[in-house]
Amino acid sequence: MSKSDHVARARAVLAANDRGGYTVPTHGLYPFQWNWDSAFVAMGFATFDIDRALKELERLIEGQWDDGMIPHIIFHAPSDTYFPGPEVWGTKHRIPTSGITQPPVLAIALAEINARAGAEHHARIAALYRAALNNHRWWANARDPEGGGLVAILHNWESGRDNSPEWDRPFARVPETTTTAIRRRDTGHVDASMRPRDDDYRRYIHLVDAYRALNWDPALMWFKAPFKVADIGINAILLAAEESLLDLSRAYGSEPESREIETRIARQRAGIAGVWNAERGQFQSRDLIDGTKLDVVTSAGFLPLLTGAPSQAQAAEMAKAMRSIAADGAMLVPSTAPGQQGFESKRYWRGPVWAVVNWMLARGLFRHGETALADVILSDTRSGIERAGFCEYFDPLSREGLGGEGFSWTAAIYLLLAETSRTARPEAA
Ligand code: DGY
Repeated sequence: MSKSDHVARARAVLAANDRGGYTVPTHGLYPFQWNWDSAFVAMGFATFDIDRALKELERLIEGQWDDGMIPHIIFHAPSDTYFPGPEVWGTKHRIPTSGITQPPVLAIALAEINARAGAEHHARIAALYRAALNNHRWWANARDPEGGGLVAILHNWESGRDNSPEWDRPFARVPETTTTAIRRRDTGHVDASMRPRDDDYRRYIHLVDAYRALNWDPALMWFKAPFKVADIGINAILLAAEESLLDLSRAYGSEPESREIETRIARQRAGIAGVWNAERGQFQSRDLIDGTKLDVVTSAGFLPLLTGAPSQAQAAEMAKAMRSIAADGAMLVPSTAPGQQGFESKRYWRGPVWAVVNWMLARGLFRHGETALADVILSDTRSGIERAGFCEYFDPLSREGLGGEGFSWTAAIYLLLAETSRTARPEAA
């Protein structure tokens, strides 16, 4: 099959998952709009339809709460193929939503779309810029109230990397008791061996029950949270998003807003600089309840490459650490490095390779001049998708495609990769 056939198929995946201006991650398993999925999908649409790309983000921020939080799921229309649905979350927004958030890719996507958009789109981009600014203020106020420079997640689902072994220790503190009956639907769509375990689900729902009982009040959640982790993935993505927002502020915002964003960028860069693990050659998450480092080598630990936080020496160390994972025979970049405690090659975020993470890592490697490694990651991702289809993720050892099929964000990344190198190499744009 030629590249243009794959491009046509990728567009067909997006069309099949389009539910009217927003895109479900995949039919059945994820039947609503998911926050970070949508941001990647918008970038995919931007390769051929700017109007539809902006629409994706506009539908996402229909779910934005008045305090700026953008929920991880927007329940635009009912579906009974997913648990936990809106009745379990019990939130009070105009449209039913979940009560927690997800990695804030929005401003990164918006800057990418802006770089391709003509003047006729600027009013819509300006409105989305404002939504992203409010969202970044929410992150600072609600999730770093003491101003330490690292934001916290209060639920594993916020990381987007639900069952990463990084969370095993802090998550073990969360009780398995729930007031909500658990009716898993995910294992009806995807083999249970590729999904989180039942005890994980009991804890996920314990957290939902606990925060719902606090009416999703951010200050109360902060004080009562039994799970509070500075996820390195989210901190890297937020900082990259702030850097994108700073660029956008110069065209769509004001001078004071640019200064406000610069202040947050300086604080967040310092926060990330403080969690460097020289022995592992990567940055790592922190448990904010007992202050310990979560010493697991994950793909997320390399995501600070997306930002200006790493020094040149640290960027080189990260590239070296990735090359040594490849030298051991793994497809780059496994969500958890093979050999790490808790690694499982087929189970969701405990090992599998995800195209969206690879795209971010390659972009970060280009930024820091590690172009050869970035090219390897991009070409392996592209050929993996051409071989396995628009699967949810890849087994890093066997390289087979796993999880759900017809995945929107995998299709979106394929569209970005199939283009010229301009999106992966932003400096060449
Ligand atoms: C799920 O249900 O698997 C999601 O990751 C939670 O958003």
